[in-house]
Amino acid sequence: MTNQHEDGTLEVIDRRTGRHYELSIHEGAVRAADLRQIKVSEEDFGLLSYDPAYLNTASCRSTITYIDGDKGILRYRGYPIEELAERASFLDVAYLLLNGELPDKAQAEDWTHQVTTHTFVHENVKRFIGGFHHDAHPMGILVSTVAALSTFYPDAKSISDAGHRRDQVVRLIAKMPTLAAFAYRHATGMPYAYPDDDLSYTGNFLNMMWKTTELKYRPDPVLEHALDVLFLLHADHEQNCSTSAMRSVGSAHADPYSATAAAAAALYGPLHGGANEQVLRMLEEIRSVDNVPGYVERVKRGELRLMGFGHRVYKNFDPRARIIKKVAEEVFEVTGRNPLLDIALELEKVALGDEYFITHKLYPNVDFYSGIIYQAMGFPVEMFPVLFAIGRTPGWLAQWEEMLEDPEQKIARPRQLYVGQELRHLPTTA
Ligand code: SDX
Repeated sequence: MTNQHEDGTLEVIDRRTGRHYELSIHEGAVRAADLRQIKVSEEDFGLLSYDPAYLNTASCRSTITYIDGDKGILRYRGYPIEELAERASFLDVAYLLLNGELPDKAQAEDWTHQVTTHTFVHENVKRFIGGFHHDAHPMGILVSTVAALSTFYPDAKSISDAGHRRDQVVRLIAKMPTLAAFAYRHATGMPYAYPDDDLSYTGNFLNMMWKTTELKYRPDPVLEHALDVLFLLHADHEQNCSTSAMRSVGSAHADPYSATAAAAAALYGPLHGGANEQVLRMLEEIRSVDNVPGYVERVKRGELRLMGFGHRVYKNFDPRARIIKKVAEEVFEVTGRNPLLDIALELEKVALGDEYFITHKLYPNVDFYSGIIYQAMGFPVEMFPVLFAIGRTPGWLAQWEEMLEDPEQKIARPRQLYVGQELRHLPTTA
């Protein structure tokens, strides 16, 4: 049986001219540029491939993350997500995504030291966070403050210098939790809690979020571990919308803070990373298990989307959703069971047994259960996409660096099919 990735050729006959063409098939793809030779005349520009929303277009070759949507497979640098969730920390996974290998003991200690000693932000950051309204959405604050960091590090523009790039990679991974926590504290009117270098990456984030009058914040180890797993489950997901934004902005050689702000802005969308917030609002709107059948009927009538369901790639199940369901039980041991879980479980049961969802291949995605855990941990729903952004930052940066180091990549500039007005002239003035 021929392997789908076996190299070969595609023979094309253009019936408009009767000409034959041979396009080479390599790594399961034909090069769109090879279509340009197919013309009806010398002045013909040549064939384009038309693919709105890039449903069937590979924008790059990547070695970072592998997804098989039919088999529900997700691997970071070849390691199954299930094994990494079980045995690796978020910082280990960030190192893996960025460097291609898991860190050994010495590398892990050095990497943790680098990140831990870059968690502070310039005091001026507090002043412009202070300029936001008290009810400003924390994602709006995060997108703005990440972009603003570019003004503090002019060497970030030296994107061709690997050393300068890595300096910014460490700063961004280190400072995202600080910016996130500061955004939350601003909204609550609480004084900022500064980083505590004695704590783990995730423990320190919880410290900056929840510390009040105690001299030393002590994170609950179960919640610290659960959130660390949630961060690593979100760390990368190949060419999703926000990563594509990161690559596209980065391809213009913008600095990584500006590119990360663009990626975070894309993630903010309710169809993408903003879905976890919408799932919670949906569960609260459903309010009771008894209302689930009626809500599902409204979804089937096309009145609304079942947030947290569906995926462009996963068509049987999202492996991350399965792991998150297990993490939920760990968290509820500490926080008490979130009653919304019962509604979510009923929604999943009803939906997975319903023809509409089966034929549309709609299954719970990463966002369906994560919000229930975040809420049980005490995070307000507005913070859910911010938590997604913290987790996704290493993936954005690994993809950004891979793009810059790929000799085939250049500034992203798609073509279009122009279907507008033909040439016309302004009316001559009477
Ligand atoms: C993330 O790309 C990634 O990898 C993203 C992500 C990552 O880690 O980066 O995995 C994170 O963004 C997860 C997805 C979070 N979004 C949601 O949960 C929002 C709800 N889901 C959708 O809107 C939708 O499923 C998408 C956006 C996730 C995927 O959309 P597609 O692949 O473009 O599918 P589509 O919008 O073309 O829908 C196909 C059909 C349509 O029906 P028809 O018009 O063909 O009859 O399925 C229907 C849609 O109406 N459909 C849904 C649905 N999702 C799709 N119907 C009801 N509820 C839904 N959730």
